[in-house]
Amino acid sequence: MTSIISQSKDRRNVLITGVNQGIGYALSKNYMKQGDKVFAVCRKSTQALQDLTNVTIIDDIDITDDHKLADLKNKLSGITFDIVINNAGIMTEEVLGGIKSEDLVRQFMPNIVAHLNTTQELRENLSLGSKVVFITSRMGVC
Ligand SMILES: NC(=O)c1ccc[n+]([C@@H]2O[C@H](COP(=O)([O-])OP(=O)(O)OC[C@H]3O[C@@H](n4cnc5c(N)ncnc54)[C@H](OP(=O)(O)O)[C@@H]3O)[C@@H](O)[C@H]2O)c1
Repeated sequence: MTSIISQSKDRRNVLITGVNQGIGYALSKNYMKQGDKVFAVCRKSTQALQDLTNVTIIDDIDITDDHKLADLKNKLSGITFDIVINNAGIMTEEVLGGIKSEDLVRQFMPNIVAHLNTTQELRENLSLGSKVVFITSRMGVC
């Protein structure tokens, strides 16, 4: 992630999911600070997110809901993204020996399936050279 940020030269269109806190919010702030145009996707916005300038907030998007992903696609029609960061996800604390199947399955949807579905929905918003980043937990990709 750091190398992508530090390579910034021109103003780019950057889409990030899971932006209302944590890594997604920090990324939004960093890209915004260096002059990129950020499209911040979340389920529910926050005041801190709204206080960022040059950030377009797209809320009410649950990435596990196909209808919401279709809404997202419609809202972003005609925009080409230089960078798409699939960041939204969940992580739970588990140790080997105490991992339950249902917990793995619950994490698989937002952390893997939804990232791929989001990327698929946005495929017309990508062009040659666009970068797609996947941030997930150890339970998403081992
Ligand atoms: N922090 C770490 O140490 C660490 C380590 C390994 C991997 N990761 C991964 O890095 C990513 C970000 O982690 P973080 O620490 O910043 O976590 P975080 O503070 O819990 O933030 C996760 C974000 O994902 C959003 N989200 C979760 N499920 C969603 C869904 N179905 N649809 C839309 N948004 C959803 C949350 O939104 P809501 O507020 O609406 O829930 C929140 O904005 C996650 O994918 C996580 O698995 C983090």
